[in-house]
Amino acid sequence: KKGNYDHFMQKEIHEQPHSLTTTMRGRLRDGSVVLGGLKDNLKTIRHSRRIIFVGCGTSYNAALAARPFLEELSGIPVTMELASDLLDRQGPIYREDTAVFVSQSGETADTLLALEYALKSGALCVGITNTVGSTLARKTHCGVHINAGCEIGVASTKAYTSQIVVITMMALAIGADSLSTQSRRESIINTLPGLPEKVSEVLKLDGEMKDLAESLMEMQSLLVFGRGYNYATALEGALKVKEVALMHSEGMLAGEMKHGPLALVDETLPIIVIATRDACFSQQQSVIQQLYARNGRLIVMCSKGDAASVCPGGSCRTIEVPRVADCLQPVINIIPLQLLAYHLTVLRGFDVDQPRNLAKSVTTQ
Ligand code: UD1
Ligand code: M6R
Repeated sequence: KKGNYDHFMQKEIHEQPHSLTTTMRGRLRDGSVVLGGLKDNLKTIRHSRRIIFVGCGTSYNAALAARPFLEELSGIPVTMELASDLLDRQGPIYREDTAVFVSQSGETADTLLALEYALKSGALCVGITNTVGSTLARKTHCGVHINAGCEIGVASTKAYTSQIVVITMMALAIGADSLSTQSRRESIINTLPGLPEKVSEVLKLDGEMKDLAESLMEMQSLLVFGRGYNYATALEGALKVKEVALMHSEGMLAGEMKHGPLALVDETLPIIVIATRDACFSQQQSVIQQLYARNGRLIVMCSKGDAASVCPGGSCRTIEVPRVADCLQPVINIIPLQLLAYHLTVLRGFDVDQPRNLAKSVTTQ
């Protein structure tokens, strides 16, 4: 079943041009987005006072990646909840809210308990899942299947990118009645069909990521700094590295750097800074300057053609990725980090598909 691949995680990473194609199949029609599972509820969603995303792990990160675009197109405040924390706090949910539950398996205990809790409040409950017939799909009022195909590796990879694309399409469908965002929507809808091709392009970095993994395999720790659309990329990249490569890794909001993390920086600790082109680019350039001034061991992820200019004195390692529309860039940017986590795991001699202590779906609290 693994075909020419050594591990399911590796197969699933390389499958992403195909899984993204199936995620979008039949859903882009005549310049608009059609999500069969949501169309009867779009009006209710548009009138909600707040959209709340609920999930765990990678599914939470996917929602975080798509959040800025959903806020932009809907004009509705979008808040984020880790399922366990929502339950611990018994955070208030109202009938005027739309609660969106994101889960690859559709069977994660914390997410399902949070769904039970939200259903009692009278809020519209929407599911985003990869599993037809799952408890999540059955108990939500409506939703969208991500159609990424069966994911076997415990580390979620192709489901993450398909979840981002589905939530992005959901934002486009919710915003479809607004004239003021029409040209923005059209420009994104027009680029969606070309995304799998860009994913194929970034997958060619496999060899380069293996080399990078060789240079990092003995490290104790790895930091990843991102912001804006790619704050989620930093969290998700670090989650991959810790869960499969069993290396300490933390994803951080670059805007918080001076509020603590900067104290960690020295010439030994490797730091990946995501600085692809978007509205946050100049802020990330100044983060790089500050890390450089403290002799940080920098690895910069940048847009193609920027390698020579992003590094002060040409001193750091770079990962050049193809540029896509800002809200879709997280789909591209996570892929080198998935590849890095994969190669680190193989080089460090750990189990790729069954990391110790973890289960594919966490059905107990
Ligand atoms: C559906 C069919 C698809 C068919 C297409 C043709 C299914 C599962 N999907 O896809 O095979 O090709 O019509 O138009 O039969 N739902 C939830 N909660 C969730 C996820 C989904 O309630 O978490 C509901 C949706 O609201 C919808 C149904 O499940 O009623 C199917 O969702 P989805 O597969 O996303 O719908 P389509 O893309 O229209
Ligand atoms: O099936 P779900 O999407 O609900 O799972 C949520 C998390 O358990 C899951 O994403 C976990 O963090 C993965 N092992 C990450 O790769």
